[in-house]
Amino acid sequence: MRVLVAGATGAVGRQLSPRLEAAGHEVVGLSRRGPRPVDVLDAEAVRRAVSSIAPDAVVHQLTDLGGADGAANDRLRVDGTRNLVDAARAAGVRRIVAQSISWAYAPGDGPADESVPFDPTEEAPRARIVAGVRALESAVAELPESVVLRYGILYGPGTWYAPGGAVAAALAGDPAARFLGSTAADDSVSSFVHVADAAEAAVRALEWPSGAYNVVDDEPAPGHAWLPVLGAALGVPVPERSGGRAGWARGALNARARALGWAPARTSWRTGFADQGA
Ligand SMILES: NC(=O)c1ccc[n+]([C@@H]2O[C@H](COP(=O)([O-])OP(=O)(O)OC[C@H]3O[C@@H](n4cnc5c(N)ncnc54)[C@H](OP(=O)(O)O)[C@@H]3O)[C@@H](O)[C@H]2O)c1
Repeated sequence: MRVLVAGATGAVGRQLSPRLEAAGHEVVGLSRRGPRPVDVLDAEAVRRAVSSIAPDAVVHQLTDLGGADGAANDRLRVDGTRNLVDAARAAGVRRIVAQSISWAYAPGDGPADESVPFDPTEEAPRARIVAGVRALESAVAELPESVVLRYGILYGPGTWYAPGGAVAAALAGDPAARFLGSTAADDSVSSFVHVADAAEAAVRALEWPSGAYNVVDDEPAPGHAWLPVLGAALGVPVPERSGGRAGWARGALNARARALGWAPARTSWRTGFADQGA
């Protein structure tokens, strides 16, 4: 099928396009840079682009995280997704696959599956992040067929967690290093996923039943467990172990995606951090 990849130049998008082509799809990329420059915040420009591409499916891998500006990313989730969905509906697109996150769940003990509701918190900035995720997920559900991939924290080439990336710089003490996330060696639990596994899930999701799927590795882990392994892989020091956990920092379970045949090639950050690939 003809697949429009929105965010084709991003960390996941770059892994995704060759995989889609290898699976026999025709790929058309959309982003602000590249051969077909479109700003998804410009509703009319998106409408024109999607209508002229006339895709069978849209894969939404748009984020605005390059500047580590959470508010810009929230705006892209709300307004960019709105424009993309409106354009897809106007062009008669049946299916959309969209990138979401696996850490918007309500607080609780143990990793969350997809049945856990979103965090009802009213505390800033988390309330705004959850509202953006909610808006993205409900907008894409307006298409006849929609799959939401709730990714874990991405690592691998082009991400903040790669060798030489922003997390390594922050741990090495660079005050200019900018990323969103925590480097506390505490009890807060995170789930990770390598960008190649994230991309592979998006290829497969073109065939999945509508719904939300956690796309995370097999080992949700507290900061005091994963941070020393990351530090060793990146060759940088890490903070001393501390305590405490945000109630929502609980990790996520991948059984639903696994049941449809997806499995992470990198089953755990434990070996994955040291083998992120080029
Ligand atoms: N879940 C996560 O942990 C997560 C997810 C994604 C990214 N990140 C982090 O963010 C950093 C940057 O990664 P990245 O380059 O993949 O992400 P990015 O800068 O957030 O961009 C992602 C994609 O969206 C496109 N895009 C952004 N705003 C757009 C707009 N207004 N209109 C059209 N397209 C738009 C970008 O292309 P153009 O810039 O060409 O428009 C790119 O293709 C990395 O260090 C990565 O670790 C983290």
